[in-house]
Amino acid sequence: MLLSEEYFKNTKPLNIVGLCGSLREDSCSYTALSESLTSAKTLGASVDLIDLKSLSLPYFTDEAKASDPAVKQFLEIIDNADGIIVSSPEYHGSYSGVLKNALDYLTKEQVKNKAVALISVGAGQYGGFAALDALDKVMKTLHGIVIPLKVSVSHSHKVISSGQIHSQEYATRLLDMTKELLACSERLGQFDGEKQYAYG
Ligand SMILES: Cc1cc2nc3c(=O)[nH]c(=O)nc-3n(C[C@H](O)[C@H](O)[C@H](O)COP(=O)(O)O)c2cc1C
Repeated sequence: MLLSEEYFKNTKPLNIVGLCGSLREDSCSYTALSESLTSAKTLGASVDLIDLKSLSLPYFTDEAKASDPAVKQFLEIIDNADGIIVSSPEYHGSYSGVLKNALDYLTKEQVKNKAVALISVGAGQYGGFAALDALDKVMKTLHGIVIPLKVSVSHSHKVISSGQIHSQEYATRLLDMTKELLACSERLGQFDGEKQYAYG
C-alpha cells in the first residue's frame, strides 16, 4: 500500500531515521541515504540523519552506554524512529566497523517491530551485496523487520559523486525502497508488539 497525501493529512507523520556507516568526505553511502530520506520527506515523513562523523560515538563499553551523552542522543533518536534506513560502504566483504560499533549499542527493545531498509555501496562489480547480507542478519537479530527491497550500488564512485546519483536506475530503486519502507512502517505502527497472540 502506498501512502496517500490524504493519509498524511490525518495522521502524525512517520519518523524515518537514517544511519550512515561511512565517515568519508563525499561518501556514496551518505549520498544514497540522503536521497532516500529526501524522498521520504517529500512523501510526508519526518526524517533524521545520524551522521557518525559528527556524533562521534565512543567504542562500545557498558560504561559508555550508561553515561556518554552522544550515546544517549543516539539511543533517543532510534527510540523515536518508526522506520530505520541503514546505509554502509562494503568493506572487505562486510559493512563498516564504525557502523558495527553504533549497532552494538542497540538492543531488540529499541528495534523490534520497526521496519528497516538497507543500502550498501561498493567500488567493485558486486557492489554491497556481502555488506547487505551481514546487515540483514544483524538487524534481524535486533528483531527489526528488514524489508525485501534492498539497494546494492556497484561501481559506487562512477554511479555516485559530488553528492549526486548519476544513474536513473539506482535513483528509482532507492525511491521504490523508500516507498516500501514507509508502507511497512505504517503497517507496523498499527501492530501492538506487546499484545499476546494465541500462536505467539
Ligand atoms: C577498507 C576498505 C575495504 C573495501 N572493501 C571493498 C569490498 O570488499 N568490495 C567493494 O566492492 N568495495 C570495497 N571497498 C570500496 C568501498 O566500498 C567504496 O569506496 C565505497 O564507495 C565506500 O563507501 P563510501 O563512498 O560511502 O565512503 C573498500 C574500501 C575500503 C576503504
